[in-house]
Amino acid sequence: MISNLKKKVVALALVVVAGVVAMGCPPEPAVEEPVIQEGVIISLPSPRHTGEMSVEEAIFRRRSIRNFPDEPLSLQEVSQLLWSAGGKTIDGVTGATRAFPSAGGLYPFEIYLVAGNVAGLADGIYRFGWRDHSIEMIKEGDFREELMVASLRQGFVYQAPVSIVWVGDFDRVRRAYGARGVDRYIMMDVGGAGQNVHLQAEALGLGTVIVGAFHDDPVQRILGTELMPLYIMPVGRR
Ligand SMILES: Cc1cc2nc3c(=O)[nH]c(=O)nc-3n(C[C@H](O)[C@H](O)[C@H](O)COP(=O)(O)O)c2cc1C
Repeated sequence: MISNLKKKVVALALVVVAGVVAMGCPPEPAVEEPVIQEGVIISLPSPRHTGEMSVEEAIFRRRSIRNFPDEPLSLQEVSQLLWSAGGKTIDGVTGATRAFPSAGGLYPFEIYLVAGNVAGLADGIYRFGWRDHSIEMIKEGDFREELMVASLRQGFVYQAPVSIVWVGDFDRVRRAYGARGVDRYIMMDVGGAGQNVHLQAEALGLGTVIVGAFHDDPVQRILGTELMPLYIMPVGRR
């Protein structure tokens, strides 16, 4: 009787030990965890406030460029472009002043970067943080092809290393200025921002074009926003 019990205890102990050994070894080959970058905020290099090209020359030379070589932009160039697209200039008495004029100082936009070929930056959708000159990753991956398809297949949207996209907060303008503000001011505001990027690209020796022909829904889905897309500006080398 006692020896039977002993046998059972030993057998049970062996099962337990075998289980522990099986759980502990041999070690599974290490699977590399993907690095989650979404939500990561990246400080951009400080933008320059002076340059070599005069404003007259930039206006004279500016034209729409629709052909980009497969060459990356630098983070410094991206920083400069985003600053011109809607970065901060000075902290004024009634709030920050930004790179483009805006009715009532509302600056009713979010600004997105669709990055597909920037040295040292993971491909992805980023939102520009104009207050501290940073970008926040919204989604990782190269979304340039999807953006090109949404832009009525305008191929240069896929070629360009980056696109800058402004989306408008129409409710904010409606609350301040009613229907007239929605009909006029928000579109006027984005015009100034787009011209800034045109001239800034020119001064950096880069090229760009304003794209207004696109389907709203897919662009909103790509960016992950409900705000209305207004301009897409692909930027690249000439
Ligand atoms: C509101 C707006 C929307 C535009 N949409 C497009 C577009 O979808 N595709 C394109 O190739 N060019 C587009 N353009 C660029 C114009 O075609 C271009 O500015 C015009 O032909 C004048 O040429 P330039 O910019 O070289 O002076 C757009 C320009 C503006 C202002």
